[in-house]
Amino acid sequence: MSGNALWQYRWSEEFALGDPLVDAQHRAFFEEAAALRAALASEEPKDEIVAYCSAFITNLRTHFADEERLMARIGFPALPIHQQEHERLLARTESVVAEIHAADCLLDCLLGAHALMEALVEHVTQQDMRIKTFVPRQCA
Ligand SMILES: [Fe+2]
Ligand SMILES: [Fe+2]
Repeated sequence: MSGNALWQYRWSEEFALGDPLVDAQHRAFFEEAAALRAALASEEPKDEIVAYCSAFITNLRTHFADEERLMARIGFPALPIHQQEHERLLARTESVVAEIHAADCLLDCLLGAHALMEALVEHVTQQDMRIKTFVPRQCA
């Protein structure tokens, strides 16, 4: 799959873990990623793009914390490793956003932003799926 296809990655029900809060956050993540991509590719003023980025980081931090609470609650065995990965991704996101803040030309940030989004999408669609078998099935 090319990097460009990852940018267009969309939510699919197969990504659902069975936890309403975390699933809603993952679904929103794909929408936010698309909005951020559109903003970066647009002629929008930098202030607006920086505002997108700030909201994106806030939501990512909230999501990681909620997902870690879920993993703790269900006794997910790889929680410490997954938590480290969240910290790594958050640090990388913060550094890309700092680059965007500091950039004279947003084009200079696109490669970094693109690689970051690929890593985040891969995290949701690969690493997070490992949680699924540990989520208790909900009663209908
Ligand atoms: Fe997640
Ligand atoms: Fe995760």
